[in-house]
Amino acid sequence: MMLLSPAAERSQDGLLSVLGELLEAQSHCELFGLELGSGTGQHVVHFAQEMPFVTWQPSDIKEEARNSIRAYIGATKAKKVLEPVYLDASQPWEKWAGLPQNSCHIIIAINLLQYSPFSTAEGVFKGSGQILKQNGLLMTYGPYAINGTITPICNEQLDQTLRQMNPDWGLPDVDVLRQLAFSNGMRMERMKTVGNLSIQRTWIRSPRKNIYDT
Ligand SMILES: C[S@@+](CC[C@H](N)C(=O)[O-])C[C@H]1O[C@@H](n2cnc3c(N)ncnc32)[C@H](O)[C@@H]1O
Repeated sequence: MMLLSPAAERSQDGLLSVLGELLEAQSHCELFGLELGSGTGQHVVHFAQEMPFVTWQPSDIKEEARNSIRAYIGATKAKKVLEPVYLDASQPWEKWAGLPQNSCHIIIAINLLQYSPFSTAEGVFKGSGQILKQNGLLMTYGPYAINGTITPICNEQLDQTLRQMNPDWGLPDVDVLRQLAFSNGMRMERMKTVGNLSIQRTWIRSPRKNIYDT
């Protein structure tokens, strides 16, 4: 069954334009992208339809989500979207659905780090540090805490709501993510506000000598 997330629909064009900018220089190449926590599947089919040079591997831990992704692929006839796979991003990369090291040009995680425990953020950065190609990109999207502070008030409320749903969930702190990125051979390359409240951050897998660039 095709699940519908109004939030995913609202963010999809903003995110598409970010991805377009990020991958523009490589748009003459055939690229491979992995989506972690794909949810309904709305984003991945939208991106695939608009960026035919990327083959996407959607994934989610929930069977309901994988069924929805399948339904979106069928309904939209999106080419370049592979069969969704079970992938628990909190697990070591060796358990990431058999994806080899250095196999992805881009990994995206949209509203995943906020809706899961910190072990997922750790897994996302550890795994991406292995699965991304050198200079490959990890794009994370969603609201964050900055130095322990969350603004504006609606993001603070979202953080509280998430923690009520699950005490281990909540907005991750960007400085903690920076450390995680650093210890996995990545660094933050850029950030951009998409919509009015959520921030897209791009992390690049880069040789260690470049880590001090930012
Ligand atoms: C808030 S939803 C976001 C879905 C979609 N990316 C979007 O923005 O519409 C979070 C998704 O992450 C999935 N998820 C949670 N923990 C996960 C994990 N450890 N590994 C992979 N997926 C996970 C959930 O099943 C859910 O589909």
